[in-house]
Amino acid sequence: MQSVKPVRAAKMLSCFAWISILALSSFAQSPSSLIQNVINRKTISLNGDWHYIADPHEEGTARRYYLNGKLSGTRPFVEYDFNASPTLRVPGDWNFQRPELQLYEGTVWYQKSFDYHASANTRVFLYFGAANYHARVWLNEKPLCEHEGGFTPFNCEATAALQDGQNVVIVSVNDARHADDIPSLRPDWFNYGGLTRDVRLVEVPRQFIEQYSIQLDRENMGRINGWIRLGGASTPQKLSLRIPELKLSTETTTDKEGLVRFTLNASGLQLWSPEKPKLYRVEISTESDQIVDDIGFRTIETHGTDILLNGRSIFLRGIDMHEEAVNRPGRAHGDDDARTLLGWAKELGCNFVRLAHYPHDESMVRMADRLGLMVWSEVPVYQGVDFKNPQTLAKAQQQLTEVIARDRNRAAIILWSVSNETPKSPERNAFLHQLIVMARTLDPTRLITTATNQTSAGEQHKKVLDDPIIADLDVFGVNEYIGWYEGVPSDLDITTWTTPYNKPMIVSEFGGDAKQGFHGATSQRWTEEYQEDIYKHQIAALRKIPFLRGTSPWILKDFRSPHRNLPGIQDGYNRKGLISESGERKKAFYVLQKFYRELAAQTGTAAQ
Ligand code: GCU
Repeated sequence: MQSVKPVRAAKMLSCFAWISILALSSFAQSPSSLIQNVINRKTISLNGDWHYIADPHEEGTARRYYLNGKLSGTRPFVEYDFNASPTLRVPGDWNFQRPELQLYEGTVWYQKSFDYHASANTRVFLYFGAANYHARVWLNEKPLCEHEGGFTPFNCEATAALQDGQNVVIVSVNDARHADDIPSLRPDWFNYGGLTRDVRLVEVPRQFIEQYSIQLDRENMGRINGWIRLGGASTPQKLSLRIPELKLSTETTTDKEGLVRFTLNASGLQLWSPEKPKLYRVEISTESDQIVDDIGFRTIETHGTDILLNGRSIFLRGIDMHEEAVNRPGRAHGDDDARTLLGWAKELGCNFVRLAHYPHDESMVRMADRLGLMVWSEVPVYQGVDFKNPQTLAKAQQQLTEVIARDRNRAAIILWSVSNETPKSPERNAFLHQLIVMARTLDPTRLITTATNQTSAGEQHKKVLDDPIIADLDVFGVNEYIGWYEGVPSDLDITTWTTPYNKPMIVSEFGGDAKQGFHGATSQRWTEEYQEDIYKHQIAALRKIPFLRGTSPWILKDFRSPHRNLPGIQDGYNRKGLISESGERKKAFYVLQKFYRELAAQTGTAAQ
């Protein structure tokens, strides 16, 4: 059994990413290596009401809010009291829980008390599904860790700081935007702040199953291979891997660092596909730990301009989505939101979704696994980013490391995207190149992509897709808004697309704004008829592109954006959705649905 490059690379790269970020901050601890598949572990939920204090002047650190102080005779000048302060529900953004916090960007301090009684021989981690944007965590007045990045999980070792009985965790979360952050200053989406995803206490034995990759071998679809890494191991550990339904099992031993690589010959395997999203229960156990996971097995690769799923050419019938809740304002999280949003994508006839522009909640990708939707997963290197800044690169690398660590066993995820609409420059190309190399190192089993809107200025209506970054990619995504930001819908009838690259293309964005219920002539912007007309012309034009292998129009549902303030039409919403924020379908919804149903019928992969 030899050591596995991707695993060590992940550890080394994430430490490098952290060293440069920590250089920035005063806090001592960085999160520990991410524990995978926490959803299937024994955990204590810390969701629910947390007391909070808004701290617009960043006074809390100087006033040591993390000490959870109380006004008393001996301490007359404690000018805060969490227990007497209002509460915010976790998971959830703070913006749509308190009217006074709707447009608030800055620091909010969260406090939660909980009882805990330690079990013998266990380690305990505080796990955050996400905290937007910069979180610092204290437990019982001790600093635990700090994390930057609003859309990826992190866990901090809590074993030493925990007390038997009452414990108090305090988290400061700051969502102010900075030029050197990822994303940077002006994303076209609402900046929801807070503890936006689940918070849990995770109990594990001293040696525990930390991360693993269990995938079908691209070279041989009768073989499952991968690696398993234990946390806390310093001597070789016995380990067994079982897939009961396939009567498959292997007993093996890790190296002294707790790492093992394995290969299993798997006959009679039903491959995962949108039509048959088969998941197998997989069991991993060591002398002290066991975990189960539901994993689908499929291969994904390209061949010339083709994308092959399980060796067969596919067309990605997609739609873009933001992570916004349905029937209530705020960030989406959890199974119900995921089931509703992905259910709408299925109703459209999709077999693919682009989760824009940042990693969505784990429940979203697990729901895609179950419902049979292939996924484009993206890190928020969005438009103008500080490409010259090595710390900004480190932040992007860290987020990429975390999302790959969390989702590497999800069959649904077929594409890692390293950016969206970044302007061409030598610094940008070098920045993205490093992310692409890292994604390939961390996960050589999936396709690497990015969404570009950079075409060379050729003749009008002759689009040359020659962004140099495409050379590094397996699949390239193109965002184009002909008929909305550029020209009129009929321009599409005379538009051609060419590329010097022999690679598959996805049109990763197209569309236009329409206020649901606003009707008029097809030439009248903002009406459903105008949006419908854009879709008709787009679909007719795109069908002619020989290297087109997928479409994911912008966007499934209208979403909040501080950039969109046309009264009576936008009112704070980007209106390019095919569905309004309250769930009404617009005319264009049915144009796309018809196109996708035709495609599905043609390829014998009729939508479920
Ligand atoms: C861009 C961008 C989206 C944005 C959209 C729009 O292409 O990627 O984030 O919302 O266009 O302008 O509506």
